[in-house]
Amino acid sequence: MRRIAVLNSKGGCGKTTIATSLASAFANHGYATALLDFDPQGSALRWLSVRGENRAPIHAVAAHRRTGFNETRAFALRVPAGTERVVIDAPAGVNGAQLREILRGVDTVLIPVLPSPIDIHAVSRFIQDLLLEGKVRQQGIRLGVVANRVKENTRVYQALEKFLATLQLPFITQLRDTQNYVHASERGMGIHEMWDSRVGKDKAQWATLLDWVDTDAPALQHHA
Ligand SMILES: Nc1ncnc2c1ncn2[C@@H]1O[C@H](COP(=O)(O)OP(=O)(O)OP(=O)(O)O)[C@@H](O)[C@H]1O
Ligand SMILES: [Mg+2]
Repeated sequence: MRRIAVLNSKGGCGKTTIATSLASAFANHGYATALLDFDPQGSALRWLSVRGENRAPIHAVAAHRRTGFNETRAFALRVPAGTERVVIDAPAGVNGAQLREILRGVDTVLIPVLPSPIDIHAVSRFIQDLLLEGKVRQQGIRLGVVANRVKENTRVYQALEKFLATLQLPFITQLRDTQNYVHASERGMGIHEMWDSRVGKDKAQWATLLDWVDTDAPALQHHA
């Protein structure tokens, strides 16, 4: 089983968008997939609730839910036996104990970043948190950064590239700014489940991401 967390303490950078599309890509590949929503706002679970029943199944786990009487936290976070891919959607503002809880058992962390100076400044602090508080290196967790909502022909993320290079962190891919993600989200779909010719470019951008995420695992087929 592989566990991939989509994390950044900064709000609105695309965590839920990326987590839901990633879960749908895994599910369409045939992996038994679970989506853990640590956000009390429950956006990932809302996405699942509007997802058509004919779509590749994704098991929902309300990870933000308080544990009940006689129920341990570990029990509440259980995924079905045989689950092959777990995708974790995290809320904004995670740090400290919650960050460590979310990181438990995770092998890969994807960090979406918007290409703006404020977001780049915020993510550099968050990456320090992951390294120092989250002890990701000691746990052998892979970190990868995804620039999200990138507008064509702009390169405001040069500072981010420089910063990542100093930490020897990979910059995985960029995802462009497009309403395709908004439309997919509204329908409980991942970007790979849209057949419109307009998503061709987005699927190509995802191919790099899926390859990196599934390194050391059977190669993903892309449903282009
Ligand atoms: N590549 C994109 N192109 C266009 N819109 C996008 C893209 N990625 C995300 N969005 C939109 O940006 C908004 C924020 O995205 P999302 O909810 O995924 O962020 P988040 O990091 O999960 O936010 P929060 O911190 O509140 O949980 C949403 O309206 C989403 O549809
Ligand atoms: Mg979210």
